[in-house]
Amino acid sequence: MKRREFIRSSGISTISALVGSSLLLKACHTEEDMIGEPNWIVEGSFDRPLIIPPVVSGNVQLIAQSISGEMLNGKPTSLLSYRNGLLGPVIKASTGETLSVQLQNNLSEKTNIHWHGLILPENMDGHPKDVYASGNSFNYVLPIQQRAGTYWYHPHPHEATARQVFMGLAGMFIVNDNEELSLNLPSGDAEIPLIIQDKRFTGAALDYSPTNDEIMTGYLGEQILINGVFSPYANVKKGWVRLRLLNGSTARVYNLAFSNGMPFHIIGSDGGLLSTPETATSVMLAPGERADVLVDFSALAIGQELFLVSNKFSKYDLQGRQAFTIMKFKVDGNSSNSFTLPSTLSTITSIPASSSIRTRTFDIATMIGGDGGHGGMGRHSINGKIFDMERIDETVEGGTTEIWEFDNGMGDEIHPMHIHGVQFQVLQRMGGRNEVIATEKGWKDTVLLMPGEKVRLIMTFSGYTGTFVLHCHNLEHEDDGMMLNFEIV
Ligand code: C2O
Ligand code: CU
Ligand code: CU
Repeated sequence: MKRREFIRSSGISTISALVGSSLLLKACHTEEDMIGEPNWIVEGSFDRPLIIPPVVSGNVQLIAQSISGEMLNGKPTSLLSYRNGLLGPVIKASTGETLSVQLQNNLSEKTNIHWHGLILPENMDGHPKDVYASGNSFNYVLPIQQRAGTYWYHPHPHEATARQVFMGLAGMFIVNDNEELSLNLPSGDAEIPLIIQDKRFTGAALDYSPTNDEIMTGYLGEQILINGVFSPYANVKKGWVRLRLLNGSTARVYNLAFSNGMPFHIIGSDGGLLSTPETATSVMLAPGERADVLVDFSALAIGQELFLVSNKFSKYDLQGRQAFTIMKFKVDGNSSNSFTLPSTLSTITSIPASSSIRTRTFDIATMIGGDGGHGGMGRHSINGKIFDMERIDETVEGGTTEIWEFDNGMGDEIHPMHIHGVQFQVLQRMGGRNEVIATEKGWKDTVLLMPGEKVRLIMTFSGYTGTFVLHCHNLEHEDDGMMLNFEIV
């Protein structure tokens, strides 16, 4: 059975009890309606102030723990955290620094930390084999050798990653360097980290309990939280603001835009600054991806409000079919900064396709073992394989350059593919959107494949040797086994 047929027969069960019954009665007349109804987003009144997690640097301690009493959707709830508060601290480091982060596992289960986007020695990368039992601790020593950028951290214990991230274990990791500092980008109150996540609540309780069909689509929550705050607002000045956007959701893709249509000036992607700013009125952000954007609020009047929204992006995909509002910005005064957008940001040297010594292809569209798991739907796989911790699937030679092709041409699901231990460039997208989009014109570690798309990536394995993983960053798919080991020798 194809996924769409499966959802057709069971899609109604994914609609949460939070939703008014009138939506349940919505008639299905068109072809698109037949793929099932999305989990309709519930919007709030945008009257909670945005919270910025504390910023830490130097030697950091993260205590993974269960906390309760936090106001997550206006009601006190229980969640997981790396501190006594919502989400982990924003960790800040500079290129050239070696950071020490002690993880104390006070959870009742094993965990570890992966530093998403950072290129680190194998034993510091948070491979799913390197997990620490309840009560144990581990000292991560992180030599920060790469350029400025917005990275992040989250647990990576196989088959528990999605739940641990969903329950609150995630944080932003900002790297600064001199090149970026010399641009004098908006900073202080004008530099805002925004971690976007969708959550589901049953009553007041944060609820992670995906059904079989939600392992197919990914677990889609009905409430959108920014930095752990549901339906927030932020005050900004009438001037330039830098938004560091991170999609920390397990499966939801956002098609970000402003309610008045004003543009984003995209200055960076996963692996730091682009060479020149790219102007776009919408930014697609898949789970795991980051976008560094500048926004000019100077055309707005003091007192004026506008909204960050997510627009529809596909009428054929369950989650692409609803537009919703994410947060509110309110202009509350004049800006004292006199920033002008530079025409050049950095230098991105394109890796020529001709320098590749080998092309590897990864089929990400095929489900395997359809007789077995998930109500007969089978399991997510890469090249027909389900993750095996002990098996090395690909071996690459350190220092060489390769082209990797992810093929979702025959697929009908969304897969954001992520590679550890390397940053890559997107050479080409074939099918679907058929182009390399603005946020892909720099260094990347995660790339979105919509159904029908194939991408060609180029990368040089100039980092550390050892065993790393590549996987789908739809965390339900990852936990289902959509992950492989590759070894750099
Ligand atoms: Cu953010 Cu292996 O993941
Ligand atoms: Cu990663
Ligand atoms: Cu996937």
